[in-house]
Amino acid sequence: MNNKQIRRRNVSAKPISANESPKVSHSNSKRRMSHSNRSCIFSLLFCFCGCILIAFVTGLFMCPFETVMKIEDIVNVQLKNAYAVNSLLSTGKKLHNIFPTPECTVEGKDKLLYAGLADGRVVCIHPSNDGEIGAGKVENITTGVIQGAVNTYDAWGHGRPFGLRLVGETLYVADAIYGLYMVDIKLKKISILVSPDAVVPNINFADDLDITTDGNFIYFSDATKNQLTHYHFEVYSGICSGRIFRYNLISKKLDIVITNLCFANGVQLSNNEHQLVVTETNRNRITWYDIETWKPLHVVNLPCK
Ligand SMILES: *[C@@H]1O[C@H](CO)[C@@H](O)[C@H](O)[C@H]1NC(C)=O
Repeated sequence: MNNKQIRRRNVSAKPISANESPKVSHSNSKRRMSHSNRSCIFSLLFCFCGCILIAFVTGLFMCPFETVMKIEDIVNVQLKNAYAVNSLLSTGKKLHNIFPTPECTVEGKDKLLYAGLADGRVVCIHPSNDGEIGAGKVENITTGVIQGAVNTYDAWGHGRPFGLRLVGETLYVADAIYGLYMVDIKLKKISILVSPDAVVPNINFADDLDITTDGNFIYFSDATKNQLTHYHFEVYSGICSGRIFRYNLISKKLDIVITNLCFANGVQLSNNEHQLVVTETNRNRITWYDIETWKPLHVVNLPCK
């Protein structure tokens, strides 16, 4: 044991008996020194914390982002009847081992399921021979890559279908990489409808779509101005850059109908097709919009994400 170590022990050791008095006095002087050391450390720590606090407060006042979230008119809904808690979604059969992160699924005729996967593919899941849904062979409808297509992020290397609708033999796909396209499910032929560069600013995150029953209009969401790899910037910044587009399949005209949505996720036409229902993930909110005036008619603030 070297001298230093012994001294350090003495600092913390309490005098045990009078016999040890010389040692005690030595220890006391050491203790005084350590007191001043300690107060020095505390001052440094205090300065350090003070600096951090000043940096935070300065940052807060210099922050370029405005707080846009202001939740008003909240009505608490009882979790009863239609809102009653249930476990319907946890009792089915899980196919997640075979399919990487499907975010959209639609049901076709003859018990066929279609899903868009994380590797960019759209697949068709057949029923088993004895008719069990989801238990049969898996057929690739698309490869996940659309050669030569404009994309939102080169390095991604394949698409990311997030929204699907099936009309007859045609699948309509909202894809965060390739925009809006349709696939003939028999011929497996893809046609781009709206590519990401169809408007300025570009469509960076096509997320979901719905189509009118006359087949003339597609409404689709562009969740955020940030690309797929940076979608969380929408959360951190508090900036709501989501948009809803209307695409006319006859005239090929594209209109922006809603802007400034807080991560525009799902879109769904109401049964009478007079309203468009839009979910905003970052705002925990579902809003019914009149499709003539685009005024919000009804809002449901959800309790959590
Ligand atoms: C579907 O595509 C995946 C990924 O490219 C491939 O591994 C698989 O073999 C294909 N399935 C069929 C039935 O061709």
